[in-house]
Amino acid sequence: MNLLPSGICFYLSVAICWLTAEVDASWWYMGTLGSQVMCDNIPGLVNKQRQLCRQHPKVMQAIGAGMKDWISECQHQFRNHRWNCNTTVRDHNLFGRLLLRSSREVAFVYAISSAGVVYTLARACSQGDLDSCSCDPSKKGSSRDSKGSFDWGGCSDHVEHAMRFSQTFVDAKERKERDARALMNLHNNRAGRKAVKRFMTLECKCHGVSGSCSIRTCWLAMADFRRTGDHLRKRYNGAVQVAVNQYGTGFTAAHTHFKRPSKNDLVYFEDSPDYCIRDHESGSMGTGGRICNRTSRGMDGCEVMCCGRGYDTSRVSRTTKCECKFHWCCAVHCRDCQQQVDVHTCKSQT
Ligand SMILES: *[C@@H]1O[C@H](CO)[C@@H](O)[C@H](O)[C@H]1NC(C)=O
Ligand SMILES: *[C@@H]1O[C@H](CO)[C@@H](O)[C@H](O)[C@H]1NC(C)=O
Repeated sequence: MNLLPSGICFYLSVAICWLTAEVDASWWYMGTLGSQVMCDNIPGLVNKQRQLCRQHPKVMQAIGAGMKDWISECQHQFRNHRWNCNTTVRDHNLFGRLLLRSSREVAFVYAISSAGVVYTLARACSQGDLDSCSCDPSKKGSSRDSKGSFDWGGCSDHVEHAMRFSQTFVDAKERKERDARALMNLHNNRAGRKAVKRFMTLECKCHGVSGSCSIRTCWLAMADFRRTGDHLRKRYNGAVQVAVNQYGTGFTAAHTHFKRPSKNDLVYFEDSPDYCIRDHESGSMGTGGRICNRTSRGMDGCEVMCCGRGYDTSRVSRTTKCECKFHWCCAVHCRDCQQQVDVHTCKSQT
């Protein structure tokens, strides 16, 4: 069983991690009764979520299947960072504890997960995988952009629908809680959803006499999820530390020199640990054993990554393509070369 998503059990309660783990094996073979039994047995769902789970088992499945994509996007964004979004732990609590905090990293995890649900769902709708949705039905007839008029055609991703479903399902739990942490989660969930919509682009096909493009058919498509990941990573860098206002209804900036957060900003309450050493309580895995770059002055440099503990160097041999020659026409032939490279890994704390 693939344990990768288990770390993300926090989110959507335990639901999706459970789903993802079980899904490949048995989901398809369960009828309606099966989905009812399954949804009833997922711990941690609030009633509203349980109801949606029963009504839309295939949507749940699609979300579960998309989860590894946004986890790997999170890991890509933080690959050079001390905290690297690593969820491959058997001990569910390790990531789980992290998510009990209200740090900037947690804000990012909520936002990207929420964005991931929207993205996955909209894509599943466009691909015709679900009975409950398809392409955006409002994109029909004709319209205009800066280049003139065009006809709607093809399949526009139905992001509005995906955002609505995601909001109803994902936010259901936070809407019940109504405490400071719920406010933070709701805010970051929304920022994540909005990030997907931001990168919708109009794609067009030309028609007309010899490609004159006098007639165009166009559709609105989501950009690659990397764009959303990059965007949210920037928002992480500029995340705003907040406190709840005196009425408990919104935020004020925690420091006077901080701006008030906009709807697109990520917000957090607590300072992050430095993630240098393994610490169960704060959900830090430590950087012992992480690969670092000896010459980099950035976060991936050995000095920063290893927190001054030093590093070990080992020589490994890598196979690369070399002596590539172009043969007329049209092929490139290369040889496999062995190259010795030094790999530096951070020492663990003693
Ligand atoms: C994630 O953590 C596990 C367990 O600590 C470790 O074995 C694995 O190499 C880590 N992966 C990355 C990408 O750091
Ligand atoms: C290490 O960092 C240097 C300087 O930033 C960079 O040029 C180099 O490509 C990096 N090496 C690796 C293996 O990432």
